[in-house]
Amino acid sequence: MKPIVITIDGPSGSGKGTTALRVARRLGLVHVDSGSLYRAVALTLHEQNISPDESVKISQALPNMDISFNANNEIMIDGVNRESDIRTRENSKRVFAYSRDLQIRAYVTELQRGLLVNGGVLDGRDAGSVVAPDADLKIYLDCDIDIRTYRRAKQHGITEPLEIAEIKKEIQERDAVDMNKGKFSLQVLPESVIVDTSDMTIDEQVDAIYQLAQEKTIDA
Ligand code: DC
Repeated sequence: MKPIVITIDGPSGSGKGTTALRVARRLGLVHVDSGSLYRAVALTLHEQNISPDESVKISQALPNMDISFNANNEIMIDGVNRESDIRTRENSKRVFAYSRDLQIRAYVTELQRGLLVNGGVLDGRDAGSVVAPDADLKIYLDCDIDIRTYRRAKQHGITEPLEIAEIKKEIQERDAVDMNKGKFSLQVLPESVIVDTSDMTIDEQVDAIYQLAQEKTIDA
């Protein structure tokens, strides 16, 4: 059977990561989390004191990077588990600027394609449009902004209303960046299946996508 590739694109906080991981496990496929890769590149460059506008230094640093996933799908940089370091709010804020650099996008795109040679579930913003335009199934995971804010606050254990408002602002800013990256923008493609998760549990969203994937496998 031909290895199946599923792309799951959607805004920050739509539950792409968790959904993609669980769908992948159920189908026996790898999960490629592109956000983790961008986060890892941003953290590495930041730690090397290379800012997002230092294009020449970025081009010199990229070939020396060693970024991979371990068996638990956690990010390894130079063989060290940096999963929690890439997910801090500081790193989340800095990754935007780095993710606009075209050399970084090309580098992360190639990393993803390499990880998908035997099929997989890929989540991101430009997964269906740029990284895997020939994917067998393309999902656009949508979700209401207030629900995404609530989920993100819960994930970080935040209950203070002012801090929650700050998180909402950060998500709105991230959406604006994600939707204005030219050809890399987050977009609904004509062939995308839209799954709105605002009123769905994680189990329900996993079931819905698994079902769609089953139909594709049967059709293939
Ligand atoms: O999905 P996430 O929140 O882990 O993504 C982290 C950052 O990386 C976010 O600023 C958007 C960026 N990103 C991107 O530009 N392209 C992707 N395919 C995935 C993430």
